[in-house]
Amino acid sequence: MGETVKLEYQGKIYEFPVVEGTCGEKAFDISTLRSQTGLITLDPGFLSTGACESQITFLDGDKGELLYRGIPIEQLAEKSTFVETAYLLIYGNLPSKKELEDFQHHLTYHSMLHESIKNFYDGFPENPHPMAVTSAVVGSLATFYENQLNVRDEREIEITIHRLIAKLPTIAAYSYKKSIGQPLPYPDNSLDYASNFMKMMFSTPCEPYEVDPLAAKALDVLLIIHADHEQNCSTSSVRLVGSSMCNLFASVSAGIYALWGPLHGGANQAVIEMLQEINDTGGKVKECVARAKDSENPFRLMGFGHRVYKNFDPRSRIIKKLAHQIIDKMGTKEPLLEIALELEEIATKDSYFVEKKLYPNVDFYSGIIYKALNFPVNMFPVLFAMGRLPGWIAQWKELQEDKNFKIGRPRQIYQGEKTRDYIPLEKRS
Ligand code: CMC
Repeated sequence: MGETVKLEYQGKIYEFPVVEGTCGEKAFDISTLRSQTGLITLDPGFLSTGACESQITFLDGDKGELLYRGIPIEQLAEKSTFVETAYLLIYGNLPSKKELEDFQHHLTYHSMLHESIKNFYDGFPENPHPMAVTSAVVGSLATFYENQLNVRDEREIEITIHRLIAKLPTIAAYSYKKSIGQPLPYPDNSLDYASNFMKMMFSTPCEPYEVDPLAAKALDVLLIIHADHEQNCSTSSVRLVGSSMCNLFASVSAGIYALWGPLHGGANQAVIEMLQEINDTGGKVKECVARAKDSENPFRLMGFGHRVYKNFDPRSRIIKKLAHQIIDKMGTKEPLLEIALELEEIATKDSYFVEKKLYPNVDFYSGIIYKALNFPVNMFPVLFAMGRLPGWIAQWKELQEDKNFKIGRPRQIYQGEKTRDYIPLEKRS
């Protein structure tokens, strides 16, 4: 046996093997802990728990490094496209020219939705949150392809992957168009992934619409940056749901819901709302920072802090540069960007944030770009979901192919009442 960790419990010594990752992280494998000792581990929020071994994404929180299949995020943001990056994440390597063309073909071929899906959109109340609609419609896709959901059939998985990536922009654009009472558009398969989505979002049947190439490029880069982030809350949800051998549509639908929360993908919406509030109340940035530091106040500086990055979030650097490019191109002053810059300046010098290692994360600047591109605020988390989709798929696929595949089933330490008798209603005080 190589390196081990020894555990002493009730006078006996137990040994557990140390597992080392390719980039040097170490864990000790406690899968036999309970059978050997009768103990389980307790780790709320999974601060010290690795749920799996994975070959997809590496991030080093101290160095601020993020790699997709070994390739630094900075290189992919500069040189790749979202579709190519999706291929890389899902299949493990950059595609050849032919593989990329085929993949691209499948992602356009499947971009339309079944016409009857439009009826779902009529059933929601006025102005539903597009995240709720998107997740519901993604889950409902399983009803349209009921005979192709076998999670152990390679061909059925393949076509489901194509369908999901191809249809998500259409589903997302429909949820926006419906909320503003405009007709539901059809995808334009002659356009690239980001341009097609922008056209579905912003064109109407009455006027010609030209996609701004810089806007489409910015969106494409944002999608790349969000494409995977190893075992975060939504990805872990996708894996956990998928571990019951549940189909990919249902697993991804669960991931979208998990992403919606303000501590996860909903943070980009929360950031803009926070910046807007500061702007509307006279630009009091210092007061906002003071509120975030007050332990009596539950308010947090949205877009700051990360469970893993304790130095800087490499995605936030790329996005900050992009935000400037987009806003310079627009030629207008964006007050929220000014506030964001001031907030970053104050918070990153403040001892509270420095000591707790709280730095701007991916969501801090992404909302400003989405806003500059005219996306409504409640669509921000949906854009995050579109970006994260290849990551969810890659992680789900890796789980299904894992030779140690098991249903996910954490244990607990029960702290409730011990056995007690049922008391009839009339005898209860
Ligand atoms: N503003 C003020 N204080 C904060 C913040 C913040 N944004 N983030 C963490 N803290 C404090 C927190 O109060 C705690 O203080 P103390 O030790 O005195 O109790 C300490 O820092 C550690 O926080 P934590 O909640 O234990 O850290 P965590 O790793 O569990 O949480 C986080 C990470 C991202 C949920 C958290 O930093 C946060 O709530 N940030 C704001 C929401 C946000 O921007 N989320 C997007 C995350 S990145 C994109 C994604 O993954 O979806």
